[in-house]
Amino acid sequence: MSTIILGIESSCDDTSASVIKDGFLLSNVVSNQSVHESYGGVVPELASRAHQQNIVPVVNEALKKAGVTKEELSAVAFTRGPGLMGSLLVGVSFAKGFARSLNIPLVDVNHLTGHVLAHFIKEENEDNKQPEFPFLCLLVSGGNSQIILVKSYDDMEILGQTIDDAAGEAIDKCSKVMGLGYPGGPIIDKLARQGNPKAFTFSKPHIPGLNYSFSGLKTSFLYSLRDWLKDDPNFIENNKVDLAASLEATVVDILMDKLRKAAKQYNIKEVAVAGGVSANNGLRNAFKEHAAKYGWNIYIPKFGYTTDNAAMIAITGYFKYLNNDFCSIDLPAYSRVSL
Ligand code: KG4
Repeated sequence: MSTIILGIESSCDDTSASVIKDGFLLSNVVSNQSVHESYGGVVPELASRAHQQNIVPVVNEALKKAGVTKEELSAVAFTRGPGLMGSLLVGVSFAKGFARSLNIPLVDVNHLTGHVLAHFIKEENEDNKQPEFPFLCLLVSGGNSQIILVKSYDDMEILGQTIDDAAGEAIDKCSKVMGLGYPGGPIIDKLARQGNPKAFTFSKPHIPGLNYSFSGLKTSFLYSLRDWLKDDPNFIENNKVDLAASLEATVVDILMDKLRKAAKQYNIKEVAVAGGVSANNGLRNAFKEHAAKYGWNIYIPKFGYTTDNAAMIAITGYFKYLNNDFCSIDLPAYSRVSL
């Protein structure tokens, strides 16, 4: 008998639902919230209100696209955290009510685990190349920068992580200083493609071990810009693409230096990347260069699986379901949690 999982994701500003059947994707519907753009960041109250409006239509569409009725579902998997509490509560409450009404199991999923296991989503007519255990996963998003040793679907160890800002957060803040839109990541990425990555040098951290730090880069970027603007008030406009390219190159170098160190230390050549920043073209190119130079087998997610999506929640829920790893209806959402 088939296992059909409905996944629900509502941790930040994307409402998403997905249906996965025996590990194969049937649908992944994501509703983005443009309401935050004019505020330069996600406004939590507005995000939860939008989730409330979106959750039922998004789930309906996911079931319709999958060609699955709710009575055919084996379980409902949902993002328990980390994330914005008001946003999480919409998905968590919906999942609980839906599973209870159908009398099927509930499966709680850690959002970060979901990003890592997105590499195991299978799709019809695709090569479905998947990492072999153990592998390293560089998880880079607006809230996290971690190197994770993935030993199995349910055994992961954080080898290193940021001690201050996340990579995406640093890029977003630098982009804000330059007066670009929100989120800065995709804008910096686009500008960087036309710029010289060696035009400017920004400071890199000297942190021991496998941890990261991005707050120094942010400050270095801000102070350098302040000095340059004193001499030339149009400095940003005149150097936009080079600034973006140099900033991106510095972030990518910082990320890859520690990842290379981890790969060497743990003697692992299976290396994956996940999270919002994994959409970055400079980072993707660096992965390809490392594959060629160091013989890494690399795993780069499809663009649709880099940002928040319910397919990664459904696939994680699928593996937990196979292990009979269910949760009870009184399980609370959590805003902060590690892997
Ligand atoms: O994983 P994600 O969607 O949300 C969480 O933080 O959980 O990641 C969002 C982050 C933002 O900082 C955004 O600017 C960054 O990912 N991002 C990018 C790109 N696309 C999204 N950063 C660099 N290049 C991109 N193409």
